[in-house]
Amino acid sequence: MSTNAQSPIGVFDSGIGGLTVVRALMERLPYENIVYFGDTARVPYGVKSVETITHFTTQIARFLLEKDVKLLVIACNTMAAVAAQVVKDLSPVPVLDVIDAGALSAQGGHKIGVIGTPTTINSNAYARAIHDYAPDSRIHSQACALFVPLVEEGWLDHEVTRLTAEDYLKPLQAEDIDTLVLGCTHYPLLKPLLRQVLGEGVQLVDSAEAMAEQVATVLAQHGLANPGPAQPRYDFHVTDVPLRFQTIGERFLGRTLNNVHVVKW
Ligand code: DGL
Repeated sequence: MSTNAQSPIGVFDSGIGGLTVVRALMERLPYENIVYFGDTARVPYGVKSVETITHFTTQIARFLLEKDVKLLVIACNTMAAVAAQVVKDLSPVPVLDVIDAGALSAQGGHKIGVIGTPTTINSNAYARAIHDYAPDSRIHSQACALFVPLVEEGWLDHEVTRLTAEDYLKPLQAEDIDTLVLGCTHYPLLKPLLRQVLGEGVQLVDSAEAMAEQVATVLAQHGLANPGPAQPRYDFHVTDVPLRFQTIGERFLGRTLNNVHVVKW
């Protein structure tokens, strides 16, 4: 395998959600080529077991390494929560994950709330990662299983979503949190609504933006940043027929989705 600055960044997720990370990468690093993998046939991962997620994650990481990526980005919080170490052990190129990036960005907080899928929250991975950077912080976690389907339904500013958010966030507000980590790929789309519910006093940590910053730093450190100015290439691999990925994905990505390939597993 040979990688250089022109090699693509490999980004992967359980489905559509990782496109929030791709969007942040496109904005922060406009010359980078990107290969994305979304396991649309087997999504959602957020309610699956550690064993199953680890198996799927390994399969996807190997697929992207065969594309000669220079860096692997685990965009899915659920995969990062339970299988980041497995990917790091098998990868010859650097591996970054959204949980580490989000935890690093949250370190200024004292009372930190974390929201995510049930598997992410049950794993306690965010709490461990945040404590590594901010040992004195208090962490309060809340699983928000309904947010993923609500976001995919496009109910970003809907009364049902607002009521759901108020209910989920009540225990975190009772703890008087000053920071909230959006520990799931889908949650950046709920930022305006979450801000309304929580008010201006709580800092929202968007792990997609945090990840783009970390990718920029690591590429620079390894001398692997693509200097451009050639137009970058974006390729998207999915495991189910791409219709839903394409329509909903454009909302996540904020632009047209081309070069979508179906992987038959
Ligand atoms: N990508 C997942 C995450 O960030 C959300 C969707 C799923 O449950 O697979 O946790």
